[in-house]
Amino acid sequence: MTDTPARYGGDTVRTEMLGYGGQSITEQDKEAVAEALDGDYITRGPTVEAFEERVADVVGVEHAIATTSGTTALHLAGRAAGFGEGDEVITTPLTFASTAHAATYAGAKPVFADIERERRTLDPEAVQEQITENTAGLIPMHYGGHPADIEGLLDVADDHDLTVIWDACHGFGGTWNGEGLGAQRDMAIFSFHPVKNITTGEGGMVITDDDYLAKRLRRLRSFDMDYDPVGHADEPWYQVVEGEGYNYNVTDMQAALGLAQLDRLEDFKARRDEIIDRYDDAFAGISGLRTPPIAEDADPFYHLYAVEIREEFGCDRSEFVKAMHDENIGVQVHYVPLHYHPFFQDEYGYEKGDFAVAEEVYDGLVSLPLFPEMTTSDVEDVVAAVRRLHVYHTK
Ligand SMILES: Cc1ncc(COP(=O)(O)O)c(C=O)c1O
Repeated sequence: MTDTPARYGGDTVRTEMLGYGGQSITEQDKEAVAEALDGDYITRGPTVEAFEERVADVVGVEHAIATTSGTTALHLAGRAAGFGEGDEVITTPLTFASTAHAATYAGAKPVFADIERERRTLDPEAVQEQITENTAGLIPMHYGGHPADIEGLLDVADDHDLTVIWDACHGFGGTWNGEGLGAQRDMAIFSFHPVKNITTGEGGMVITDDDYLAKRLRRLRSFDMDYDPVGHADEPWYQVVEGEGYNYNVTDMQAALGLAQLDRLEDFKARRDEIIDRYDDAFAGISGLRTPPIAEDADPFYHLYAVEIREEFGCDRSEFVKAMHDENIGVQVHYVPLHYHPFFQDEYGYEKGDFAVAEEVYDGLVSLPLFPEMTTSDVEDVVAAVRRLHVYHTK
């Protein structure tokens, strides 16, 4: 391999495209799904219940309610929280759109507050500044799997009696202060999309310790229908629709895959940690490449390895991404801040320039490939591509 990056005329580091994330599916996973297909239920049946119980157990909460995606989990959580017209719900601009939709789907206004420079998560002080008499809730997001300032955010929530929904899509399986990430009040949600820490194809989960919220979430997931209303013992067919619910039921096949994936949770984490250690080590001496923050009092299950490309690296983020793509390395950017998107600008009046820290972070952000199926050689390809790009631009 020459020293010249492919973008400037050298050979590519690798011939096959490497994605930034992806699932790991074994024969056991396939057998579990096939077995579920032979069961009596191929919609939401006993396997979904078993999956919910295992997830609740892993995180250490009373209730887990499976749903069709992280997005629908957020929808259910926003509705169960009781957000509605006239309410304001504070969240981070550095997230995926679905986080804010937990507010918008319920008719509430998403209010962005800036992030902390180091953690890249919702800043409790910035949240405090956005509180009004209409503030009803908070939706922090554990960026990349790194815990947000949980204590600081819960303090603000306590002071103002706010409902908190933790978007823990990136962090399933991690712990904070010895507790499962997501076990903190009031609700947390996960995504089981193929790039996430475990997968069910599409899928999500809302977890909570609160019995009332759990009941609301289950009802909303399934048409907001009561099949056994009090006072109708003589009408076993009786159903009551008490509100506008949804069909966000997941299938036993998906749950079977989820259960099989949970059997490998520790292996998935160990492999991701190994790759992260190698990256941290390889990039420690590269000027202008800021590696992800290291969590204190936590053992996160990292979903992303998001670095920041700064001036001293020698090229900007755009050139970095193009050069890595030219090497057949599929880096990604998580995320274009929400206040840059036409929807949040047109509907809520946000504009570029509103959140200085999120914007500064975003300008350098790039997620390098991180998933358990990466081979040692895949990891070394990423390291080699980054190193020679830096050398090329700084020689
Ligand atoms: C932070 C965050 N929230 C919500 C979602 C939505 O999850 P899903 O794709 O399962 O709907 C995602 C997925 O990309 C995410 O990364």
